[in-house]
Amino acid sequence: MDTELKPLVGEQIWLSERPISFFGARLRARTTVVRLEGGQLWVHSPPSPTPAFQEQLAALGTVKWLVVPNRFHHLEMPAFRTAYPEATVVGPKSALARNPKLKIDKFLGEAGVTHPEELEALPIAGVPFLDETTFFHRPTATLIGCDMLICACVRDHWTWRYVAKLSGRYDKLGIPPEVWLMTRRRDETARAIDDILARPIQQLSVAHADLVVDRPREKLAAAWKFVLGKWTDGSVTKPPGT
Ligand SMILES: [Fe+2]
Repeated sequence: MDTELKPLVGEQIWLSERPISFFGARLRARTTVVRLEGGQLWVHSPPSPTPAFQEQLAALGTVKWLVVPNRFHHLEMPAFRTAYPEATVVGPKSALARNPKLKIDKFLGEAGVTHPEELEALPIAGVPFLDETTFFHRPTATLIGCDMLICACVRDHWTWRYVAKLSGRYDKLGIPPEVWLMTRRRDETARAIDDILARPIQQLSVAHADLVVDRPREKLAAAWKFVLGKWTDGSVTKPPGT
């Protein structure tokens, strides 16, 4: 079944995938669901709120938070918000200009915005084209991102495998080409990536790649090394957690 929620970590995190089309390439897009310590659900980049998906959510808990993680992953949010009117939608203000039906209750990155404590919000500053905030789930040491990294593999549709091979994103995590083109080396971006790398990341979940459990910090650092001038050889020189 499309969008079947599969457990990633015990009773805390579930992932689902659905096919999407992007300029002719068929990618997989992921939704991440976290059950908070209080039992409520946090839904990152939700899919269409089909009865089947809602039924799965109902079995896990009450939907409390809905997350638009960047300027691009908002298409299903208006319908999802209608299905869960009691939930709080968080996201970047910049996404509003791209979708007139979108409503956001709390803007990510603004001072004083409350958010579940166990999910630390870590914005990638200085990349307005993407305007993405990542989340570090402290109890499971999982970094939840969206388009910050991308990678195709054998499980993907041939159209995306083809594009990924041409662009060096096949079996190798990289920044989406359009994001890379629109990103300049900036101190604030280097600091933001540094800040993310300072977390003891054990696994990395992004929208368009398999779950990364093998050296996620090193792979993230290598992909973003062009904003991290000091890491010109792609190595991680900063010890974890410092
Ligand atoms: Fe995406």
